[in-house]
This record gives sequence, structure tokens and C-alpha cells, in this order.
Amino acid sequence: METIRIPRVLQDAARTHRRQGKSVGLVPTMGALHEGHMSLVRMARRENDITVASIYVNPKQFGPSEDLSKYPRDLEADLAKLEKEDINIVFLPDDSLMYPAGFSTRVEVEALSDRLCGAFRPRHFSGVATVVTKLFNIVSPLRAYFGQKDFQQAVIIKRIVKDLDMGIDVAVCPTIREPDGLAMSSRNRYLSEEERAAATIIYRCLSEAAGAVKSGIIQVDTLKKVMREKLMTEPLVSKVDYCSAYDPERLEELEQIKGEALLAIALTIGATRLIDNLLVSVPSST
Ligand code: PAF
Repeated sequence: METIRIPRVLQDAARTHRRQGKSVGLVPTMGALHEGHMSLVRMARRENDITVASIYVNPKQFGPSEDLSKYPRDLEADLAKLEKEDINIVFLPDDSLMYPAGFSTRVEVEALSDRLCGAFRPRHFSGVATVVTKLFNIVSPLRAYFGQKDFQQAVIIKRIVKDLDMGIDVAVCPTIREPDGLAMSSRNRYLSEEERAAATIIYRCLSEAAGAVKSGIIQVDTLKKVMREKLMTEPLVSKVDYCSAYDPERLEELEQIKGEALLAIALTIGATRLIDNLLVSVPSST
């Protein structure tokens, strides 16, 4: 596994691989790698000749009140995990190389970035869009891999690829869960033992709502009530940012579920904000 820190060097290496007719897959990450990330890496390995993973904690996607300096970092363990998967290149840029003095471009995806998490984390998605666009331009991958847990992020990245004719195949891979259903996330490391146990409420709530949809409850007001009541049974939930059903492409809240819908939750337990989602579908009546 080769370590590259300089964008221009990676750009040249990726170009050489492409010229040799090799397919290049990219897995962008912010490190603190868990099984969710590793499932993306394994998928990239299976589908491409060359796999590049990036580890970069992107300051532009953190708000002023979000603690960038406390974001979990564990480079040594991350490199060992990637080495074990036998990937080709790990990209480890630093801020001075990603955002050198004079950097003044931001990628904005209208509307989609203001919904769900965007309503609570202003500029978060333009930070994500900017760094992912840079990574795509550096690597020019054939395929790029993201997790379904960050569903809104994946929708926004697909939009960028389409709008800017990037010709990259964006794969959205299933959420990897702990045995008790909690979606794997680097942020789970922030949870105390008690909070970790409480966090299972998210998946239990989503599963109950999915069950309700299956049993014929398709009015979103009713589903929201079911979900809120379930969340309120957990005293350690201090804040619910959203919990409802959304159109999976436009990310607008639905009134009624017809066809596919995204059940999504964002809440805070202790000081940790967690998100999760499930896709459900109601067969459209003929
Ligand atoms: O999902 C993440 O870890 C980040 O948002 C990403 C896509 C690596 C961009 O910094």
C-alpha cells in the first residue's frame, strides 16, 4: 500500500493507472475507520483494479460550534486496517495542501443541502461537496463508495456528479450495524456506556416505524407520532432534530407514503448527535 500526501502526486499516479486501462475506485473517509468503512473498501477492492482510500478530516464541513479538534483520529489503526485489505493507495493530505492560502471556492448544491441535517448544520454539505469534488478531481475514479447511513450526503454527491457531468459511478452501500442494531459511526466512540445502550433507541424506533408502514400506516403524521412517542421513552435523548418520512430523491418531508420513502432520524444523546435511516416501500396500487 502506497501512501501519498500530495494531491498532484496522486493525480499523476491515478492518471498512469487509467492510461494502463485500469479501473480506479475511491473510498473517501475521515478516518477512525470501522466496519462500515471497511465494507466500502472491500466493495471497491472487488469492483476495481486499483483502490484508493482517502483519510482527511475536512475542516470545511464542521460548523463553528462543532468540535473539529475532538473528531476521533486513529491513523495508526486506520493504516493497519487498510493494509490488511491490501488496497493500493492511501491518500493523507493535510489542510495546507487541500486548502492552500488563497483557496476561495465552495461547491453549493441548492435545496438538497438545506433539508434534514442541512437545516441544523448550515454549510456542512457545502463543505462536504467542496472536499468530495476536490477528491473526485484529484483521483478521477470510475467508481466512488459511500454509506447509506449518510443518506443525504450520498444524494447530494450523486447530484453533483450528475449536474457537473463527472461520469463517476456513485455506489451507496448498506449501513453496517452493531448486533443490537446501532448504525456504525465514528461518533459512537463519544458515547458513554449508558449513552451507548440508549442509542439503540434509534434503530428500534426506525424498525417500529418500518413495521407500521408494512402494516398499512402510510400517513406521515401518524408515523411521526409513533416515532416521537418511541423516542420519548428514552430519557437520555436530549434533542430530536428530525424524525419523519421523506422523499428519497428530493429529501422533502412526505404527507403520505406512496412507493419508496426514507425514514430518517437525527437526535442528540448526551453531547453526541447521531443519525440513521431506513428505506421503506409501499407497493403503488394499480
Ligand atoms: O462521510 C464522510 O466521512 C465525509 O463526509 C466525507 C465523504 C469523507 C467527506 O469529508
